[in-house]
Amino acid sequence: MTERTFSIIKPDGVRRNLIGRIVGRFEEEGLKVVAAQMKRLGRYEAEGFYAIHKERPFFGELVESVTSGPVLLMVLEGENAILKNREIMGATNPADAAEGTIRKLYSQSIGENTVHGSDAPETAATEIAWFFAQSLVG
Ligand code: CMP
Repeated sequence: MTERTFSIIKPDGVRRNLIGRIVGRFEEEGLKVVAAQMKRLGRYEAEGFYAIHKERPFFGELVESVTSGPVLLMVLEGENAILKNREIMGATNPADAAEGTIRKLYSQSIGENTVHGSDAPETAATEIAWFFAQSLVG
């Protein structure tokens, strides 16, 4: 099933010049970039995006980190795009990420884990619509 998912290359990835390698990896694995925008997120935009985590002890650190520099926001399309993107990223905590995944290869800590990706169809739809036109949800 062709589906769409939402991806962020976070400030730590942009800062370390990893955009090309990460986007290249998505493309090699059959995911197509159908929308993209590079920007620095504002505090409210980041807090709203991560609202589901607002009671977590790491929320402040998470918002600080994702607003610390520009990010690349993307909509990715492909066969089973949501699961495929999660497999390419690896576990949230780089210490638990499988060999060859983006987070295993490039991430330094759970707070600076280089990429974000939607975890389910409902979150993909909400996350795409948070940053892009509703029509891009697909
Ligand atoms: P992400 O996939 O963007 O979704 C929520 C983010 O919160 C997650 O990646 C991590 O970067 C961050 N996060 C999750 N757990 C922790 C934690 N224990 N400490 C710091 N950051 C965390």
